[in-house]
Amino acid sequence: MEALESIFNRRSIRRYSSRKVEKEKIIKIIEAGMFAPSAHNRQPWHFVPTNDRGTMLEIADKHPYAKMLKTADWAILVCGDLNLESSSGYLAVDCAAATENMMLAAYSLGLGTVWIAVYPREERIRMMREIFKLPANIEPISLIAVGYPDEKKPKPNRFNPSRIHWDKWE
Ligand SMILES: Cc1cc2nc3c(=O)[nH]c(=O)nc-3n(C[C@H](O)[C@H](O)[C@H](O)COP(=O)(O)O)c2cc1C
Repeated sequence: MEALESIFNRRSIRRYSSRKVEKEKIIKIIEAGMFAPSAHNRQPWHFVPTNDRGTMLEIADKHPYAKMLKTADWAILVCGDLNLESSSGYLAVDCAAATENMMLAAYSLGLGTVWIAVYPREERIRMMREIFKLPANIEPISLIAVGYPDEKKPKPNRFNPSRIHWDKWE
């Protein structure tokens, strides 16, 4: 029941209050990422949490769609380890599953998040590599802004029966 509540009510939150996010909650969110399914159960992820103002302001300045980092308390970079990838292309898929798990966990902890796009944009991958000093085998996939919400968003209606193709397409 609680899982469905999170899935249907989570929204991207881009305005945050000044309340500090407890470090235990950040760890719990990362743990939720580590419980995501992954190809061949390789669990090929690494996480770089930061609440360093300098880092967050630099990203807000350089990334075209990350202005919310000016007020978010934390950001978590979700990365894939190329040395752990099961086969080509799965790294981003596995890390996307981890990212969604993390956003749902954050919602259930009373926190707001938004997924900031990194992969597959080369310039953003390069930007994250430089800012976070990532080794060559580590591919940044997504960045999650985290904070206590200062906005409320309604539950949208996204159920679209025309996107269901029972048995076969036609
Ligand atoms: C792969 C991906 C990349 C995204 N990149 C950004 C981003 O760079 N900046 C941003 O503000 N939102 C970003 N979003 C959030 C989407 O805009 C948002 O999920 C979508 O509008 C649906 O709204 P909701 O999350 O409130 O349901 C991204 C979402 C995904 C899945």
